[in-house]
Order: sequence, then structure tokens, then C-alpha cells
Amino acid sequence: MQALTMTAPAPDGSTTALVDLDEPKPGPREIAIDVARAGINFIDVMARRGDAGYVSSWPFVPGLEVAGTVRSLGSEVSGLEVGQRVAAFTLGGGGLAEVAVASADLTVAAPSAVSFDVAAAVPLGVATAVLLLERAGLKHGESVLMHSASGGIGALVSQVASAMGSGERIGTVGRADKVAAGLAAGWDSVFPRDEQTEARIREIAPHGVDVILDPTGSLLELDLSVAAPGGRVVLFGNATGGALPPMPPTGRLIGGNVGLLGFSISRLASTSPATLTNALKKGFQLIEAGTVRVETSAVDSLASVAEIHDLLAAGRGSGKYVVDVKGR
Ligand SMILES: NC(=O)c1ccc[n+]([C@@H]2O[C@H](COP(=O)([O-])OP(=O)(O)OC[C@H]3O[C@@H](n4cnc5c(N)ncnc54)[C@H](OP(=O)(O)O)[C@@H]3O)[C@@H](O)[C@H]2O)c1
Repeated sequence: MQALTMTAPAPDGSTTALVDLDEPKPGPREIAIDVARAGINFIDVMARRGDAGYVSSWPFVPGLEVAGTVRSLGSEVSGLEVGQRVAAFTLGGGGLAEVAVASADLTVAAPSAVSFDVAAAVPLGVATAVLLLERAGLKHGESVLMHSASGGIGALVSQVASAMGSGERIGTVGRADKVAAGLAAGWDSVFPRDEQTEARIREIAPHGVDVILDPTGSLLELDLSVAAPGGRVVLFGNATGGALPPMPPTGRLIGGNVGLLGFSISRLASTSPATLTNALKKGFQLIEAGTVRVETSAVDSLASVAEIHDLLAAGRGSGKYVVDVKGR
């Protein structure tokens, strides 16, 4: 089978190639999936650039989410059958391949009304948006601030927050030319990050923002400055790379009545897989109800994925990318 393979850490696609590999076989609690579409994520880029904790060993097949049909089942798997349409988290990698293996505990049936293009974007997209807002304990009418608001996850958080009854939704982006994409994704207001950002957020939310979702690893100071009393900041990434900022002085959290929370989907997968599959099912419900509309950019083949990784690495991606794994 064909699989996208990274042979060593690199800042670009120089160590990424399409390779013929032996087909992976499912363990007792796993299933093999004939992948129709796979999601492309910034975490693939973090793996490629060699960030700690994303690659178990080299060579490495990236890819964290897939949609397709069940090819074969491990001996202890029940409730799924060969040929069934499914979507799955493949959080250890391996999704950017013609055949992927996923834990049965991280796989759900994909509704027939939802295309594979959309289904492949649900695990790391819609379901992750649900999980982040649940982690933050979003309540009806609360305001939300999200950084990287025009990206794969960012573009979906705006819709999921609205579906969960949020109040004002504010996004920030790293470049002025991404503002339009953030607004098109449904954010009420979107600002490029510059020296005006804090003041602009304060104009919209004079008492502060209730829920702040930060995937950057570098904006904690801003987050704490604009958090409302009782607000919650969820740190869930390190897109910037390098050392994460130190924890803020405790007094800032006590005095501000602010909660600082972490979120790791990989950790959740090992400690509470049902939380992930429940979010995946909720994601499909939101899509089937028409409450969330998933727009994807279609990538025609695995051979084109390295170019998308380059785009994401340069911070020039927009929305969610999904690849046709069987495309040529
Ligand atoms: N903790 C978890 O379990 C978990 C799960 C899934 C994803 N994540 C994180 O969620 C974030 C969004 O993922 P995604 O796949 O949807 O990606 P994405 O938002 O489509 O692309 C990544 C974005 O990160 C921002 N960025 C900040 N510093 C950057 C840098 N040095 N190089 C390149 N981009 C930089 C850019 O947006 P702006 O310039 O607009 O800020 C860029 O567009 C990622 O940071 C990812 O690691 C975490």
C-alpha cells in the first residue's frame, strides 16, 4: 500500500515521500480501514519539524484522522463490520496511507448522509472543537476568544461555539490577510495580532472574555490580560514551537479569578477514549442537523500533501484540508 512517509525531522518536505509499505494488520482491539479521505493537520507539521512527543520512531507515517470503510477487524472487536463506513482518530499517526489501523475504541460509524470528505474532518476538526469548548465549560451566552481563528480547528470552533449557545465570538489571526477567512468562518470579529489586539478585544468585551482557546504556546500574557473574572483559558498547543512560556505568577490567577486549563487529545485517547467517540458522534449530529457546515479544501492525492504541510508550516493555510488517499 502507498503511505506518506517522513524519514527524518525537517523544516520542509525534503524528507517526506510516498512509499510502498506492507499493509498494517489490526491488533485484537483494532480495525484496519480502507482510507477514502484523511485529514491534514498542523500536528503533522510539528511531527515533521521534530517537535518532542509527536513521533514514536522514524520513518514515520503521519495522519491523525481518517474516514473510509472497515477492511478487517481484530479478534476482540465487536459492534463494527467489514465494509462499514467509519471515521476514526489515528492519533499515533498512520492516517495518511491507503490502509490505516485505528483502535476500535476511537472509531465510530460514519452516517451515510455525510460524505467521506466531511467525515475525515470530524475527528480533529468538529469533535476537537466540541472537546475544547466542553473542557472550557462554555456556558450559554459566554464570550469566546480563539487564536488562529481561520485555521482548520479555528474555523470550526466558531460554528460549534455558536451551536453551544455562546455569546460574542472573537478571533485573532497571525496576519492581516487572514482576517477575511476568519470572518468567512463565522467569527463575529477577527483581528490580526499586533499592538492593538488587546485594546480591540477590550472594546468588544469590556468586562473581559469568558473562554479563551490558545493553540499558539506564545500568547498567555494576552490571554490573562483579557480574561474576564471567572474566565477560563485553555492551552492546547505549541504551534510556535520551542520552549513554552513559564506559568504566570499564582497571584494573577487568584486575583483574576481565572482558570488555566490544559487540553491534550492524545492523553484523553489513552485515559478516556469514550470522551473522544462521544464528541465524534456529537460532531456528526451537528453536521446532520445542519447546525455545523464543514467546508474542506480537497487535496487530490497523497503526493500533494507535502505541499499542504509547507503551507501550514508557513502559517499560510486556511480552513481544513482533506486528501483523497486513492487519488492519483
Ligand atoms: N492539544 C491537542 O490535543 C490538539 C489537538 C489538535 C490540534 N491542536 C493544535 O491546534 C492548533 C490548530 O491545529 P490545525 O491543524 O487546525 O492548524 P491550523 O490552525 O490550520 O494551522 C496552524 C496555525 O498556527 C498558527 N501559528 C502560530 N505559530 C506558528 C508557527 N510558528 N508556524 C506556523 N503556524 C503558526 C498559524 O495561525 P495564525 O498565524 O493565524 O495564528 C497557523 O495557521 C495547532 O497548534 C495544533 O497543534 C492541539
